[in-house]
Amino acid sequence: MTDSTAATSAWDELKALPRPRLNELFAADSGRVGLLSAKLEIPEGEILFDWSKTHLDAAHIAGFEKLTAAMDFHGRRAAMFNGEHINTTEDRAVEHTALRGVGKETSVEEAEALKLRMRGLVDAIYAGTLGEVRYLISIGIGGSALGPRLGVDALGGGEDGIDVHIVSNIDGVALEDALDWCDPETTLIAVASKTFTTTETMINAQSAIEWLEDNGVADPYGRVIALTADPEKAVEWGVDETRILPFSESVGGRYSLWSSIGFPIAVAIGWDGFQDFLDGAAAVDRHFRDNDGLANLPLRAAWADLLYTHLRGTQTRACFAYDQRLDLLPDYLQQLEMESNGKRVTIDGALLEGPSAPITWGGVGTDAQHAVFQLLHQGKVLVPVDFIACIAPGDNLDPAHHRTLLQNCFAQGAALMAGKPAQGTDKLAEARAYPGDRPSATILLDDLTPASLGALIAFHEHRTFANGILLGINSFDQFGVELGKEIAKSMDKGGSFDASTEALLKAAGIK
Ligand code: F6P
Repeated sequence: MTDSTAATSAWDELKALPRPRLNELFAADSGRVGLLSAKLEIPEGEILFDWSKTHLDAAHIAGFEKLTAAMDFHGRRAAMFNGEHINTTEDRAVEHTALRGVGKETSVEEAEALKLRMRGLVDAIYAGTLGEVRYLISIGIGGSALGPRLGVDALGGGEDGIDVHIVSNIDGVALEDALDWCDPETTLIAVASKTFTTTETMINAQSAIEWLEDNGVADPYGRVIALTADPEKAVEWGVDETRILPFSESVGGRYSLWSSIGFPIAVAIGWDGFQDFLDGAAAVDRHFRDNDGLANLPLRAAWADLLYTHLRGTQTRACFAYDQRLDLLPDYLQQLEMESNGKRVTIDGALLEGPSAPITWGGVGTDAQHAVFQLLHQGKVLVPVDFIACIAPGDNLDPAHHRTLLQNCFAQGAALMAGKPAQGTDKLAEARAYPGDRPSATILLDDLTPASLGALIAFHEHRTFANGILLGINSFDQFGVELGKEIAKSMDKGGSFDASTEALLKAAGIK
């Protein structure tokens, strides 16, 4: 049970704390890096999480410990792993961890059976049972696209493998680009949709079928695989039962890349790689389930997140991957965090008093340094930054590439924190000064592997959940996406709207 009086008093204490600068925190405690930087073991490697350049200190940690107890973090976390219906608004359990083998026993067993079914299909494709397959176009949107796209982009690309394309946007340009690239005779279409009703996905899927038909493929529906939590809808649409890969309703869309929605990743990197991806995530699940307080790394990250939103008024947080292979990570995290925690009511339906999720944004280093870092260093808004990098290079070129990449990554964190005082009194002195005291965290992977990517994503899932618990909100529904969909549908039925919208419809010639 949450204790709102205790939570209010924890927040009162936190808000009254002094605000030492980061350099003062380092000066006052020579053990600061040891306290706030930790390694997490994953299969065949480890990941370093350095939160020492945030303003977390002993006093904040004590305050957040109280808040964590008051918000019943332990009870809510246990409820998730026990398969209780913690997604109360939709009356569902939250069981993406069961897909990785961690959770309620019966759910883990069910997930394992579905995983074997998916493995059977991946093996059959590679064994040639479905004829020659050189291309896979996976059609889905939101959680049914962002995860697979990230996984395929970051880990895929073997020369002999199947060429995987992910198409999400209803803008026909997206599908046309993929179709132009692929050969209809050797292309499989995956329709990835939890509900199997999403407008964009169903229109794109229909156009893909027409493309197969138009190009003389004898049995177009025979080239389709459905990835869905609603197999009946897939059958009604025309997919043969043997080519439906189901997953459980208790897996949320933005948490579904571990289920059959991850099929394109399994096809791109092979089954062993996909299993490693799940195992990397499972290592973080066990860490999150079995550690408390500061030792729990996703919880620690959530404390820092709340420190900035609630005590420093930050409205965004940025993530920069200093690794070209992870250039889609900020997009993925954007949906994970903003769709999960961008809410204005508590789990009890009351209006939330403080802020909820900040805007997640970001990019890839070093490109972003030459585009947006000006504001991070000298702008008037405070943006907590996460840097993510790998110790091992992803390229085979001169080591100067990777050394320079990492040096730049670490230099940015150091510069944000240290700043640079104004020198001299001329007109440019202030323009050239850096206020410093700007926080960052760094996540350093040994290497980018299926296991480390799985662990990195699972870390962010649990960080998001921990934030949701401490905010007192349900991180697992997304009612905010519905109104726009309803209005778009009623436009198709000739509904009437405000004067501005009517004028736009007329200007576009669709009314
Ligand atoms: O509109 C938002 C959303 O419901 C996401 O939560 C989901 O990942 C996406 O649409 C796609 O939904 P589906 O997998 O059911 O097609």
